[in-house]
Amino acid sequence: MLNFIPKKIEDYCADNTSPESPLLKKLAEETHATMSNPQMLIGRVEGVFLKLLVKITSARRILEIGSFTGYSALMMAEALPEDGRLITCDIDPRATGIARRYWDSSPHGRKIELKLGPALQTIEEIEGPFDLVFIDADKENYIRYWDECMPKIRSGGVIIADNVLWSGRVLAPKEKSDRALAAFNNHVRNDRRVDAVMLAIRDGITLACKR
Ligand SMILES: C[S@@+](CC[C@H](N)C(=O)[O-])C[C@H]1O[C@@H](n2cnc3c(N)ncnc32)[C@H](O)[C@@H]1O
Repeated sequence: MLNFIPKKIEDYCADNTSPESPLLKKLAEETHATMSNPQMLIGRVEGVFLKLLVKITSARRILEIGSFTGYSALMMAEALPEDGRLITCDIDPRATGIARRYWDSSPHGRKIELKLGPALQTIEEIEGPFDLVFIDADKENYIRYWDECMPKIRSGGVIIADNVLWSGRVLAPKEKSDRALAAFNNHVRNDRRVDAVMLAIRDGITLACKR
């Protein structure tokens, strides 16, 4: 992943961001040690950003598309109230096996429900309304995830999409995933159902609020 801001500044931002819980630190370490694609995990700065969004919005029901080893789900679950609920989905039994192990070790894990299977099927099956949706799975389906989730998000609810800068490749798309993300960004820009801002945090985050 390309660094958009100088490493020194990025490190300074990280140094001035709250720490993660010891369990999340262990989860990130295990993911880096055992998975071939650990960069998929959002990391502490973006994780704390999501956690703060959950707190600030007083979200109670969250939908996450793309669980991987469970880092972002657990980060957000830590900010949910006791009766809060986070549904997350993924197709990877190995990655979510790690996720389950860590969720089971956390007092916040019982707020998390994993749906193993294609996200589009999960979105179709579950009932809204959600206060917050985090899209972080296969890039080719981002527009579909956005459109399928929209009716299940309450008015005033928040939608967050990760990797919207795709290491800057959205500026001159070549690969299928580059084109998919460029098209997604265009889709969001023209979507009158939301107010949205694109943030150059890590690999780019779109933060939107449903009108
Ligand atoms: C970037 S990772 C998610 C990282 C996670 N949100 C975190 O920060 O800890 C993307 C995940 O999407 C999953 N995925 C890919 N295609 C999918 C699909 N069609 N349905 C559900 N999940 C999918 C992958 O298996 C992978 O674990």
